[in-house]
Amino acid sequence: MHPDCPPTFKLTGKIMLDIQEIKNRFIHELAAAGSLYDLQQIRIKYLGKKGILTAKLKSLSTVSESERPAFGRLVNEVKVFIENETDARERFLKRIELDKKLASEALDITLPGKYTAAGSVHPINRVLKEIIDIFVSMGFDIEVGPEVEQDYYNFEALNIPKDHPARDMQDTFYINDDVLLRTHTSPVQVRVMEKKKPPLSFIAPGKVYRCDADVSHTPMFHQVEGLMVDTDISFSDLKGILEVFVRRIFDKDVPVRFRPSYFPFTEPSAEVDIGCILCGGTGCRVCKGSGWIEVLGAGMVNPRVFEMAGYDPDAYTGFAFGMGVERITMLKYSIDDLRMFFENDIRFLRQF
Ligand code: PHE
Repeated sequence: MHPDCPPTFKLTGKIMLDIQEIKNRFIHELAAAGSLYDLQQIRIKYLGKKGILTAKLKSLSTVSESERPAFGRLVNEVKVFIENETDARERFLKRIELDKKLASEALDITLPGKYTAAGSVHPINRVLKEIIDIFVSMGFDIEVGPEVEQDYYNFEALNIPKDHPARDMQDTFYINDDVLLRTHTSPVQVRVMEKKKPPLSFIAPGKVYRCDADVSHTPMFHQVEGLMVDTDISFSDLKGILEVFVRRIFDKDVPVRFRPSYFPFTEPSAEVDIGCILCGGTGCRVCKGSGWIEVLGAGMVNPRVFEMAGYDPDAYTGFAFGMGVERITMLKYSIDDLRMFFENDIRFLRQF
């Protein structure tokens, strides 16, 4: 019922005006209710237990009998009107409140997302894993040894006594007379032979330290040692294994050559070269014009080393090899400065 519409039935002017007045007041107050709280106050004021309209309904008995039905109907009509209007107003206010909330919490999906750098595997670790995978696929185990090592394992047991000139080949960080930072992974050969009986074949990856720093040397770098011992291991086993390795790690049909060399712990010893992968063997800055690049050292285990490790040198033969992981990584990815690996320049690392 619209507030301006006159009631459809006859009532004494006074009562009718009274109710009409209540309704008009309600309409004004409702229009001014700006929040759900205001609305609740209005509801209580008119429809609550002690509300204005409730009181009117209660006064039904005081109205003359003839007027009672019309009065009751009018009060009820106004009651329903107030209920409907407050409900509608409530829906409207809730809607506004929700809109406000949505606007303040809105996600702007047109904004660019926050970028989280995912990081990547360091090139050294990447190549190290490749090296390990190749040897593991050929049946080699993995062994590790301490980086802080005894002079005995790093030198003595590898047939490098205290006054041996070969000690000068490796600038050593000494901790005291007997303890040092291992200069190569070869001590792991001895440590494993002391613990295990042949046949054995393993690689020993890890960090090594030398007191040296320039374009091609860093005080710490990585090596992978290899050792295979049994009753009849020959130089051709060494050649075969290393040729397979070199061809798999460089992913090409690279030529491989064994060049005579010297290590106190192997006899005979060899250095393994591959055809320069940068110039293809014609000669360049990297291979210094020779067409060949050295990638690792190797040889047949010196019987003196077997003796010191407790193996019978007449019963067993074996081969050993050692390679620098940085060197192989530099060749694989044509990196010409070793220091790049350790500078943590994100522009360099991101490329891997
Ligand atoms: N330990 C040697 C080096 O660091 C490499 C090597 C290992 C050579 C095993 C022969 C056999 O230069």
